[in-house]
Parts: sequence; C-alpha cells; structure tokens
Amino acid sequence: MSKLRRAFVCRSCASAHARWMGKCPDCGTWDALEETTVDPLAEKDPQRGLAAAFIEPNGAADTGSVKALPLSDIGADDQPLRRIPSGIGELDRVLGGAHGNLGLVPGSAVLVGGEPGIGKSTLLLQAAYAWAAAGTPVLYVSSEESAQQIALRARRLAEAAGRSLPGATGSDKLFVLADTNLARIVEQARRNGPKVMVIDSVQMIYKPDIPAGAGSVTQLRRCCSELVYLAKASGICVVLVGHVTKDGQLAGPRLLEHLVDAVLYFDGDRHHAHRVVRAVKNRFGTTLELGLFEMTGGGLRELPEGAGPAATGESRPGSVVCPVLSGTRCILVEVQALTATGFLGAAKRKASGIDSNRLAMLIAVLEQHAGLRLADRDLFASSVGGVRVVEPASDLALLLAIAGAHYKKALPPRTACAGEVGLGGEIRPIPALEQRAREAQRLGYTHLLVPPGTRTPVKGLELVPVKTVDRAMEHLG
Ligand code: TYD
Ligand code: MG
Repeated sequence: MSKLRRAFVCRSCASAHARWMGKCPDCGTWDALEETTVDPLAEKDPQRGLAAAFIEPNGAADTGSVKALPLSDIGADDQPLRRIPSGIGELDRVLGGAHGNLGLVPGSAVLVGGEPGIGKSTLLLQAAYAWAAAGTPVLYVSSEESAQQIALRARRLAEAAGRSLPGATGSDKLFVLADTNLARIVEQARRNGPKVMVIDSVQMIYKPDIPAGAGSVTQLRRCCSELVYLAKASGICVVLVGHVTKDGQLAGPRLLEHLVDAVLYFDGDRHHAHRVVRAVKNRFGTTLELGLFEMTGGGLRELPEGAGPAATGESRPGSVVCPVLSGTRCILVEVQALTATGFLGAAKRKASGIDSNRLAMLIAVLEQHAGLRLADRDLFASSVGGVRVVEPASDLALLLAIAGAHYKKALPPRTACAGEVGLGGEIRPIPALEQRAREAQRLGYTHLLVPPGTRTPVKGLELVPVKTVDRAMEHLG
C-alpha cells in the first residue's frame, strides 16, 4: 500500500506546495491553494488507472514488451491518416487537416473551453449528431444534464435544422449517458465501442477512490489523464468540455491544457449572437484558423466566410478597426474617438477600455508630428464591445480614430489598421502580423495599414505599409 502524502495544489497554475499560503508563489493568485492527498504511486503511473483495465481487461500491460522503435519503422506501410469530420465545416477547419481530410484525429484528446452558457453543449451535441449521422458511433456523456434533457434538446435542434429526428436515421449510432463516475463511463465505452466520446463537462467527472471532491485539482488531473490515456491506447477520440472562468482561464488547473492534443476555445459576447471557436493549441493543425457561428433559436448556425461581428466594413469618422491579440487569440476591435469643444488648460481626456497613458501619448504625437491642435478639445476614446485594448499594436487605430474625429474624416471602407506608434511619429513593427491579417481578411476586410517592411502576403487582403503618422493620415478622407 502506497503512503498518502498531503500537498497544497494551486487551482490556477497547478503547482504543488508543502504548506498552505494565502497567495500562490508561482502564479500570484490569491486563495487558490487547495489541500489534497497525493498517492505517489498513482501519480507516477497514469497507466495503472481504469483506462489500462479497458485496454487489457485481464491485467496491467506487460511493461517488458515496450520498446523503442526507429522512426522509419513506425507506420511506414499504413494508410494515410483518415480524420473524422463532423460535417460542421467551421468546427472541422479549426480541428485542422488538409483539404478533404478535416476533423478529429483518431485517438486524440481535444479540450473545448468556454464560459458557462456560451453554447458548448449545443455545439457538441450538434457535432455528435452530425458524426452519428455520417455513420461514426458516438458516446455523448453528460455529467450535468439528464438523458431526457439531452434527447429533448437534440430533437429540437434536429427539427430546427430540418434533419430527420433522432431515432429515424443514423442517430441510432448516437449513445447518450448521464453519469459522473469515471469507472462507469469507461465501462460503457468498452461495451459500446464508440469512435468519438464527448465528456460534457470534465469538471463534474470523479473517481470515487480519490479522496477529493469532484472538480478539485486532484480529481480533474487524474480523470483527465486517464481519459487522455484511454484515447491514446484505444483510438477513441475523446472530446472534453471544460468551463472557463470570467477572465478566460480554464477553471481548474492549466494543466489540462498540456495533457490534451488540442485546446479549442468557444467564446463570444453573451449579449450578442456571434460565437467564435478557435484553437489555442493544436498538435495536428494550425492555431490560426477560427470558426464563426451564430446562436439562433434552433441552435448554432455556421456563418459563411466573410460574415462576422466586425465585418460591417462601413467606416465612420472617429471609428477605426484593429486586429488585437488577447492572449493567443486575435479579435477585431473597433476603436472610437470623439472630440468636443473644451477649455484650454482644462480639456477632458477620458478613456474607456483603453490605456489612458497611451491616449495621452498619442495626443502628444498628433500635436507634435501632425500639427493637430487638441489642447482646447475634450477627447473621449473607447473600445467598442467592452474589450479592453492594451496592446501597443492598437496605437495606430486609436491615433487615426482621434485624427478622424477631429477632421471628421473616415478611412476607406473595409480598411483596418495595426501598428505601434513611436514618440518620433514613426510606425513601428508589431508581432503576429500574419495572424492579424488572416483574421481581418476572414472578417471581410480588404486593406490593412501596417508598419513598413512587412512582407507576409495573405490572399484577398492588401497590406498597405505606412512609415509615419503623416503618411497614415493621408488615408483619411
Ligand atoms: P449551452 O449549450 O447549454 O451552453 P454551455 O454548455 O456552454 O453552458 O447553451 C447556452 C445558451 O444557448 C442558452 O442559454 C440558450 C442558448 N440557446 C439558444 O439560443 N438556442 C438553442 O437552440 C439552444 C440549444 C441554446
Ligand atoms: Mg453545458
């Protein structure tokens, strides 16, 4: 019998500490350490878990037969890998693959994160239905809803999409299980032999032999690593759903992110209908792709190429669109500015969603290098949609918004811009330009003002290099 050890594990970064502290010394989060007991043996060998029994019901795998192989001998005579497409184009493209072979890689583990209520269950139920309709056996495990609730929702979604009702064609391949016990889930998987297994959500799954509550760091880590091992060893695709907290972190350890092969985020503004799915990690594809959906009364609808929240393409004085990075994600944000008559020496400068120091600096640059007189003008600047823009790459957009508001001139339609503004009035290079350009192009923009010396062609989008603030302002009006 292995000796249990006490440890305190951070809920946010999953670092382990010997004693409790108010603040995690590694990531700085307050009140995040949680007491757990660690079984040193089980921690060391996830293959001792339930998944091992699934693969080898008559005992643990013989470790003597494991040996390293030369790369050239592995899979040399195999067929090229067939992915499992869901038929939901926007989702398949994010999952990755070459044209005509998109979707889930067999034996992979994918984590889908998103805020509660954003539509993760809806997306995966639609995907599960589509997989099943195409002949792929699917096991949809819900740890939050009852089987009746899922069936009700599935019927409604299928009806709205004008497809046959579940039970008619294809959907006898879609199995639903409402359970939270990992042992029972693995047992059902063994009996049903699905090709795709969806776990919605992983935070509610538990293993009774671990002395910790469901959703705790220990449970999450163990259940997730066993499910990932199950995927690797059995060839079943495991799709895990995880809730994220308001600040965009996966509730529970970040650790889940490195256990799985791909991490998709499903997000959007709950007050608007648009939803975006994007990969922040993908071992089998690019993380530059994104899928766009619209939430309707009948579930999620794919948005065609070019349609999107910021894709109106119209332009107004004082309003400029900029692709900004938030974490590893890129979103198009509209930056707005307004000037009004004020008093010399007491002019107001108000920023909402924008760094006010940056605003003051850009006003100074405009006065010094572009000859604007703003000393007696009140100035208001904001980012639309409640997205906080702190990236220097948004400087150029804010600067053009202010200048546009002052002169009452707008950029040409379907033009966005990205660039950092230096104190000398020069436009400076920014990181991840290709990702920004792709996002702008995808949302229907045709021109992007960029710093000079940028040479990353993106089909359907013209990069317009601008060297100085003066040059950039020539594009107004
Ligand atoms: P859900 O998929 O349950 O969210 P999650 O699993 O991420 O918590 O769906 C959440 C919201 O989606 C719900 O509040 C209502 C909305 N919705 C629609 O607008 N239309 C629909 O057809 C469905 C199923 C949900
Ligand atoms: Mg849900």
